[in-house]
Amino acid sequence: MGAASFKTLDDLDATGKKVLLRADLNVPVRNAQITDATRILRLLPTIQELAQKGAKVIVVSHFDRPKGKPVPEMSLGPIADALGDALGRPVTFVDDCTGPKVQQAVDAMQDGDVVVLENTRFYPGEEQNDPALAKEFAALADYYVNDAFSAAHRAHASTEGVARLLPSFAGRLMETELNALNIALENPARPVGAIVGGAKISTKLDLIGNLLEKVDMLIIGGAMANTFLAAQGVDVGRSLQEAEMHDTARAIMAKAKEKNCAIILPVDVVTATDFRADVPTRTVPVGAIPADAMALDVGPETVRLINEKLATLKTLVWNGPLGAFEITPFDTATNEVAREVARLTDAGALKSIAGGGDTVSALRHAGVEKHISYISSAGGAFLEWLEGKTLPGIMALESVFERAMPI
Ligand code: 3PG
Ligand code: MG
Repeated sequence: MGAASFKTLDDLDATGKKVLLRADLNVPVRNAQITDATRILRLLPTIQELAQKGAKVIVVSHFDRPKGKPVPEMSLGPIADALGDALGRPVTFVDDCTGPKVQQAVDAMQDGDVVVLENTRFYPGEEQNDPALAKEFAALADYYVNDAFSAAHRAHASTEGVARLLPSFAGRLMETELNALNIALENPARPVGAIVGGAKISTKLDLIGNLLEKVDMLIIGGAMANTFLAAQGVDVGRSLQEAEMHDTARAIMAKAKEKNCAIILPVDVVTATDFRADVPTRTVPVGAIPADAMALDVGPETVRLINEKLATLKTLVWNGPLGAFEITPFDTATNEVAREVARLTDAGALKSIAGGGDTVSALRHAGVEKHISYISSAGGAFLEWLEGKTLPGIMALESVFERAMPI
């Protein structure tokens, strides 16, 4: 499925219409402060465009996991304020997402107004995808716009149920995300490669299995590389690895061969006996990991090898850091490879698409965030897409489109 099969804001005559906009305002918050406003900023074009066209924009979103009941700390009120600041105009917050208060606020809207409703997960019907709640959402508006790609892996009333009840459209952020994923995996310029890092094969099995079918090269880093190495008989000392996944790792290698997908594993690693900042390290070839040491990053030879391989690619998908990048100096390989990806991207030689929580922080940490072709705003939804899964929020948009097609 490609982005082209969705209706977008180009197809929506929003003037004077009420638009229910599903956003993902689930931003990270610490001590009542938003620590990363990316999701708010990336939502602005859709809201601005709808408001400029004279729509009445009713924003719905979940925030955190209140499990079906009101939790005051999980109110969207403060985030609605932040959204208003970012928009540079007042937005009205309603402390409910269904019922008479909401209806009153919607009835009072003028064309171009923006209203933000309270956390949809304050009601159990949201996560249960209760048709009655979906119906109440639908009754508020003429149209539904989904701009919450990052919540599209959830089949909830505000992401899935309601899309079946109203004429539905992808918002600009949704459209951009789908286009980027299309460029990355559905119709990539080849050769296409993927960097997959992170701790465990067991959490990324489906992802690796799907990528093997689609990419020409799979570069494996992070602790999961240890499992692949150990599965081939390499002594990885005290490195983090999954002994019970050795058969699986070997099966993956065999499948990769059959699919003509090259697998690139580390050839050297940076080891330490302790995982803490600025601990003494030893860089060794993978065959010489000391018995009392752990591999915590891939080494300089591996960085050279990866960078050499990157130069042969036209498209790269990146999920997961190459080492334990949260602690110096184990961020070195991730930083260096990130800089090379940024350089190739800036030079127009590579389309780079990255996503998944840790990956974004790692790229930000490397200072290359603005030099990657596309960074997804999604965590779990991006992973599920890489796994080849059908995302219910997107399916619902697509099936609405199919129903609307003349036969
Ligand atoms: C996310 O942050 O990944 C999305 O907002 C979905 O949130 P959830 O994992 O709580 O469903
Ligand atoms: Mg999540």
